[in-house]
Amino acid sequence: MHSNDTYDLSWDEWDELQRPAAETTDFDGVVDAALSRRGFLTGVVAYGSGAAVMGAGLLSGTSAQAQTASRFAFTPIAAQTDFTVHVPDGYSWHALAKWGEPLFSDAEELSQETGVSVASSDRVFGENTDGMEAFVVDGRQVIAVNHEYVNTKANLPHTGGEVQSADDVLTLQNMQGVTVMEIAEGAEGWAIVKDSDLNRRITQNTPMTIAGPAAGHPLLQTAADPEGTTVLGTMNNCGAGKTPWGTYLTCEENFNGYFGSTDPEFTAPDGYARYGIGMEGRYAYEKFDARFDTSKNPNEPHRFGYIVEIDPTDPSSTPIKHTALGRFKHENAAAVVAPDGRVVVYMGDDERGEFLYKFVSSGVYTPGGPTSALLDEGQLYVAKFNTDLTGEWVALTPEATGMDAAEIAIFTRQAASKVGATTMDRPEWVAVNPVAVEAYCALTNNKNRGVKPNAGGDDTAANGPNPRDENNYGQIVRWYPSNDDHAADTFAWDLYVMAGNPTVHEGAYGGSDNVNEGNLFNSPDGMQFDSTGMLWIQTDGDDDNEGDFAGMGNNQMLAGDPATGQIERFLTGPNGSEVTGLTWSADKRTMFVGIQHPTAPFPDGEGMLPRSAIIAVKRDDNERVG
Ligand code: FEO
Ligand code: CA
Ligand code: CA
Repeated sequence: MHSNDTYDLSWDEWDELQRPAAETTDFDGVVDAALSRRGFLTGVVAYGSGAAVMGAGLLSGTSAQAQTASRFAFTPIAAQTDFTVHVPDGYSWHALAKWGEPLFSDAEELSQETGVSVASSDRVFGENTDGMEAFVVDGRQVIAVNHEYVNTKANLPHTGGEVQSADDVLTLQNMQGVTVMEIAEGAEGWAIVKDSDLNRRITQNTPMTIAGPAAGHPLLQTAADPEGTTVLGTMNNCGAGKTPWGTYLTCEENFNGYFGSTDPEFTAPDGYARYGIGMEGRYAYEKFDARFDTSKNPNEPHRFGYIVEIDPTDPSSTPIKHTALGRFKHENAAAVVAPDGRVVVYMGDDERGEFLYKFVSSGVYTPGGPTSALLDEGQLYVAKFNTDLTGEWVALTPEATGMDAAEIAIFTRQAASKVGATTMDRPEWVAVNPVAVEAYCALTNNKNRGVKPNAGGDDTAANGPNPRDENNYGQIVRWYPSNDDHAADTFAWDLYVMAGNPTVHEGAYGGSDNVNEGNLFNSPDGMQFDSTGMLWIQTDGDDDNEGDFAGMGNNQMLAGDPATGQIERFLTGPNGSEVTGLTWSADKRTMFVGIQHPTAPFPDGEGMLPRSAIIAVKRDDNERVG
C-alpha cells in the first residue's frame, strides 16, 4: 500500500522490501572469510599514494602525519546533532538554491500550504539536490545538478504526502531530474541568475536519445517508441560526473522504484527481479501514468538505469543515454583520460553485493576533436579484487558472458555475475585523484554482508575490500592502476579508511587507525577531489548518535589527505539530512555543498517546509577553499 510509511522509507530500506533473490552462478566465494580476515590484519589498510602495502597490522597514520606538514586549512569541528549546518571558525555559509526556488520569473514562489504548483514544477529548482558539477560558459558560471527523488510530505503538503492524482504525479516527475542554472556572486552572496538563457530543467518527461549497443534493441522498444531510440526522461539522478570535453554526466540510480503494475496477475519479465522491479512503485505513478505501468509497458524499465550526457552550454540540446556504460543503479561517473588518450569512466552500482565497473573508450580524446562516439564505442569491465591486494578488470564481452553486446548493456548485472566479479558493500561515489594515479570508491555499508546472500551471486562471507560482516560503518577502497594507466587491466589496492567507532568497539569495528574520537563518521557516500588533491568525503548514514553510532552526530563532510591518511571533519548537516554533492566556483573561493532531504525546517526556519538546498561555503578572508 502507498502508506506514508512507504513514502518515508530510504531507498536502502525500499531495496530491502524489493530485494530480489540472489542470482545463482557458478562463481565460488570470492574469498574464504578466514583468509580475508587474515589479509585484513596483515595490512589492507595503508596510507600513501602508491605506497607498498604495509605489513605490520593496522598501520598507524601517526608517523606519516608527523613527516608531512598539515594540508588542512581549517580547524576541525565537533560532531553536531542539531538542525542546521556548521562549518569551521573563519568560514561561513548561505543557501544558494532551495527546492522550489524559481529559475524563471514566470514560476510561482513556493507556498507553505501547497508546495510547488504543477504549472511551476518544471520551472523551479528541483527537489533533493545531489551530484553536481560546475562549468564556465562564455565566462558565465553554470551549475548542473541532480534532483534525485522526492519527499512527498514536503512536496505535497496539501495531501499529507499521499499521491492522489495525475497532477500530483506530474508535479513529482517535474521536480526530479536535473537543473542547469547560471549562478553569480553579488553583494548578498551567490544566487541563481533568474531567466538566464542557460537555465534549464530536465525532468522525468524530457525527450532524450538512446545511444550505444542497446539502442533500438527489441527490449527497449515500446508502443510510444517502436524504434527503441527515444525515451522520455531521466530518473533517480544520484551522483554525477563531467567529461573531459565539458559535458555533464547524470547517473540513474534507483529507477526500479518508479514502476508498478496495475494488473495483479502480471508476470514480470526475466530480468526484473535482479533490478528489484516489483509490483508496486513508490509514488503510485503506475495508477496515473500508464508509461510506468509495467503490465502495459513492460519494456519501459529497460530504458532507465543508464548514464546520461547533458550539454550545459546548449539548453536546446537533447540529452543522450549511453548504454555502453551499462545498466545498473548508477551512483556516479568519474571520468579520466588515460595516457594514450582513451577515456576511462569509473562507476559504482549502489546495492548490497553489486559491483564496481569501468568503461574504456575505443577512440581517443583530443581537445577540440570529435567526442560523439567516445561513450558509445568501447569496453565495459567489472572489478575483481584478489586477497593479495591485486585486482583485475574483467571485460564484459560476448565470449566471457554468453550474452551479446546489447544484452550486456541492458542486463549488466547478470553479465558481471557470470564473470565472477567481486561483490561489494554498496559502491557509492568513485573519485579520481588529479595529482596521483589512483582512484577511490566509497563502499557505504552492507548490514547483510555475511548475513544474507549477496545480490551478485557469491557466498555471504566478507571478502578482501569488504572485510567485515554486518558492515554498518562502511569503508573506502583505493586502487592504483598498473603502469600508472587508468586503462590498464590490472591494479593494486588497499583500504584508505574503514569507518568504525573506537569508542564503542575494539578491532575491525573500531575502524582503521585514521579514525579517532575526533573524526567519527559512518557510511561514506559522496566523494570529490579538489584541485590540490584533497579528498572530500560526504556521508549518508545513521545519525541517531546512539549505540554503535554514538559520537558520530549528523551526516557530515570531512576532508582526507591521501598521503597521510589524516581525515578531519569540516562540515555537519542538519539532523535528518544527507550531505551530498560538491563542486567549486571557477576561482575556487567558494565551495558548493548539497544538503538533501532535511526533515526539520531547514534552511528557512521554524514553521516552514524543509527544503533541500545547495549551500555556498566561503572563507571569511575570501581565500581559496579547494
Ligand atoms: Fe543515491 Fe547511492 O546514493
Ligand atoms: Ca549517494
Ligand atoms: Ca547512500
